Amino acid sequence: MKLVEALEKLSNANGVTGREDEARDLMKEYLKPYVDEVREDKLGNLITFKKGNKDAPTVMLAAHMDEVGLMIKNITKKGFLQFAKIGGIDDRILLAQKVVVHTDKGPLVGVTGSRPPHIQSEAERKKVMEADKLFIDVGARDKKEAEKMGVQVGDVVSFDTKFARLGNSVVFGKAFDDRVGCAMMVETMKRLQKVDCNVYAVGTIQEEVGLRGATIAAFQVAPDVGIVLESTVAGDMPGVKEGEAPAKMGEGPVITVADAGLIAHPKVLRLLMDSAKANKIAYQLETGIRGATDAARIALSREGVPSGIISVPCRYIHSPAAIMDLDDVEKAVKLAVAAIGKVTEYF
Ligand code: CO
Repeated sequence: MKLVEALEKLSNANGVTGREDEARDLMKEYLKPYVDEVREDKLGNLITFKKGNKDAPTVMLAAHMDEVGLMIKNITKKGFLQFAKIGGIDDRILLAQKVVVHTDKGPLVGVTGSRPPHIQSEAERKKVMEADKLFIDVGARDKKEAEKMGVQVGDVVSFDTKFARLGNSVVFGKAFDDRVGCAMMVETMKRLQKVDCNVYAVGTIQEEVGLRGATIAAFQVAPDVGIVLESTVAGDMPGVKEGEAPAKMGEGPVITVADAGLIAHPKVLRLLMDSAKANKIAYQLETGIRGATDAARIALSREGVPSGIISVPCRYIHSPAAIMDLDDVEKAVKLAVAAIGKVTEYF
């Protein structure tokens, strides 16, 4: 399967934090041909392994399978669904969205409704409609009907976005954070023929609520080096000042120097930058972005694991409609493959 096809299927799949099953099933299927072992741990991380030389270092590649979304917290008497946010979602993008409520009886399409602007006061209209004032309308006449349709407290809700291609090499979709990392991981394992080092390719769970899956996955894998495949904020649009978000779409993968949870290990940083230079892969360096990735937890696992991050610049991240450049994705894969091939020279 081509990289872009895997990305499309992964982006369209549901994997709201805590309910990563659909994304995990795809990852299992896609990784299987390229690894020696596939297993799922007790909490739902997908841990796959490709054997290298016995005494060679062990690399943990990680990409999180979960995505930000919503969770139903109450069904009103009239059948409207009130919800809580899961992960970092900006309230401003929640209004009037088409969503999918994932019930035990199957998916239900709904829309996020609110008090109409026609009856709002001047002051109200100037403010952002807060998430707890919104609700999901699935067309149920009352609570009983909503329940009959399958809705229960705790059901997760994802954005109803279908992956699409725009222009030449640009793609549009939901959950690129971090299904692009998942697709990159599959493609990286596919292209790794014989490598010296031992490689674990791990799809993690519950990253968006505090890097939870990676914490226990890293403990199990006990790697010598950690490389996280991610998406990051592209700041190349109107209203973003120079230096605020330095990554630009179309200018190659981003190598993180530091974020709120990790200072990339100098040796890993060198490994990544040297690999990019040796293979003439354009790359961008990034620091100062709020937020952290699984690398923060992997780095602090056991006695410490030198770790780094390769990410793809992504516009409108954590929204129902993100955009990124396939060219960056391709280069990020090339970089990951090159770096893994050089690990034994550095560790
Ligand atoms: Co992410």
